[in-house]
Amino acid sequence: MQLIKALVCQMLACLVILLLGGCLSRWAIDIRLIALLQALIAATFSALLRQPVWWRLIHLSFMPALAIMLAFNLPSWLYLLIFLLLTLVFWGTVKGDVPLFLSSSAVGEAVIAIVSREKAASFVDLGAGVGTVVAPLARHLPDSRIDALERAPLPWLLACWRCRKLPNVQVRLVSLWHRNLAEYNAVFAFLSPLVMDRVAEKVRSEMREGSLFISSSFPVQDWVPETIVEVDDGHKTCLYCYRIQAGNIPADQS
Ligand SMILES: C[S@@+](CC[C@H](N)C(=O)[O-])C[C@H]1O[C@@H](n2cnc3c(N)ncnc32)[C@H](O)[C@@H]1O
Repeated sequence: MQLIKALVCQMLACLVILLLGGCLSRWAIDIRLIALLQALIAATFSALLRQPVWWRLIHLSFMPALAIMLAFNLPSWLYLLIFLLLTLVFWGTVKGDVPLFLSSSAVGEAVIAIVSREKAASFVDLGAGVGTVVAPLARHLPDSRIDALERAPLPWLLACWRCRKLPNVQVRLVSLWHRNLAEYNAVFAFLSPLVMDRVAEKVRSEMREGSLFISSSFPVQDWVPETIVEVDDGHKTCLYCYRIQAGNIPADQS
């Protein structure tokens, strides 16, 4: 659905540029500016069609990137290679999955501090990316069992490589929605506000009492965090820590 919407945005933006063609050629506007204009129009249509916010970034960069590449006269196989690499990194994004953004190393350190304090024997990162959080954590807590769930093939492969010498980590090529959270003492997620209601429902129905859910950057609506850790990184990332307790978390999120 998102892919169809994206195609519609791109086509509508090209149509607007074609309709403006007369004016643009009369004013002899530079082709790079035209590419930028197309990108702005596509991003505007994307916002109007209520695509997730990262699609606007994709629309903003698509045509300018194409214009730059054309200017360099790059060989055609390079386009295919870039397309394949992007597909492997942003695997499920067209279906609505959260794309890859990496946590800062300061977030990794804050998670180490929280999980060490918890003495959590088991930990999972829901959407582990390239292992930015799990690899340092596993090094600090060699006795904890750590799972990294990742659905996009290339980040999964990089996370496997990064954790290859860490026997306490299992990097799994699996959707986070297909893994039961009951077996973990601490669960970490850095996803998107768009999926937080669904994540909250999963956490509420599967996590055991006393365990800890840590959401980076995005709080769960109506839930009261036990603590909020403000990380001293460029974004002032907040880690919202929710203790799973009957009554503490609203039973019905709908
Ligand atoms: C914002 S990144 C966070 C990466 C990492 N946890 C970190 O903090 O650096 C979100 C990751 O979740 C992955 N992801 C999105 N939907 C997923 C799903 N349904 N199952 C598994 N991974 C998913 C994406 O591929 C991406 O790598």
